[in-house]
Amino acid sequence: MRLAILSRNKNLHSIRRLLAEARKFRNPAIRCDVINPLECQLVLNGLTRGSGIIVGAQPLPDYDCVLPRIGASITDYGLAVVRQFETLGVCVVNGTRAIAESRDKMRCLQILSEAGIRVPASVLTRSQRGFRTAIESVGGLPVVMKVLQGTQGRGVMLLNAPISLATVHETLQSLEQDVIIQQFIAEGAGRDYRAFVIGNQVVAAMLRTAPEGEFRSNIHRGGEGTLVKLPKAFERTAIRATRALGLEIAGVDLMESRGGPKVLEVNSSPGFEGIERATGLNIAAMIIRHIARRHRLRRGSRR
Ligand SMILES: Nc1ncnc2c1ncn2[C@@H]1O[C@H](COP(=O)(O)OP(=O)(O)O)[C@@H](O)[C@H]1O
Ligand SMILES: [Mg+2]
Repeated sequence: MRLAILSRNKNLHSIRRLLAEARKFRNPAIRCDVINPLECQLVLNGLTRGSGIIVGAQPLPDYDCVLPRIGASITDYGLAVVRQFETLGVCVVNGTRAIAESRDKMRCLQILSEAGIRVPASVLTRSQRGFRTAIESVGGLPVVMKVLQGTQGRGVMLLNAPISLATVHETLQSLEQDVIIQQFIAEGAGRDYRAFVIGNQVVAAMLRTAPEGEFRSNIHRGGEGTLVKLPKAFERTAIRATRALGLEIAGVDLMESRGGPKVLEVNSSPGFEGIERATGLNIAAMIIRHIARRHRLRRGSRR
């Protein structure tokens, strides 16, 4: 089986781990390449059968499966490449639409809440006059403010003093930034669960604790991950959230609130260095196994 991992950087921990596990895999043996999506030229020649992807001067070989690991900074181009693979009939895990919908934090929250999954009260805003109303409608200060495309805790801020509002607002205005104003979940602050979902299963979970003086518990912000048995309600919620977004591989961030589990976001390209270290589980091998299973099912259904 031939697998392409779409990533800009072969040296990332997760890419190296995936390559190592793919190399070990048997039944089927997997030939795995890492392709930089930015080097892909997408060709539509106007005929249904003439579509393709060119890298350098060469057309790409036929792949059975593609695993997009696309960073937030190249979402648009990256998604165009993933879509092209879909057009060519290649099995893609995760799909274009699911990645696009989870990457935009507001779109993700809309889909979750439409599916009846609890999320923190949130308002998308950019208007001058609406800022205060937005803060009031999620319960007043303190609130969390988020940019739509942030990751690893970047672009997630805590607003807790009225005096800072005017300056923050002024800055947003001049940058023409849309932001989400969100209820600060005080009772669970500084802690959240990261559930790693593959297929219909939570395969690993960790509790992340923010360092002293920080409310964001991201590992990249110095948060510490420890192995936990995810409470049943959280497990169910993580699986439902993944399914609602149409993802097969996802990292779901959940917080404990008075009303039960709330989903903060669903990541379509979750890193797994932190969770492998915290849990001792081999996530890379589980991802490769899932892809091989998908490939088998697909081949079976085509026969
Ligand atoms: N509404 C909230 N209340 C309290 N803490 C929050 C809230 N939203 C986010 N956080 C904290 O900030 C972290 C980052 O937020 P998240 O929405 O997951 O963005 P990112 O994509 O940057 O990880 C979360 O893991 C959590 O610890
Ligand atoms: Mg997060």
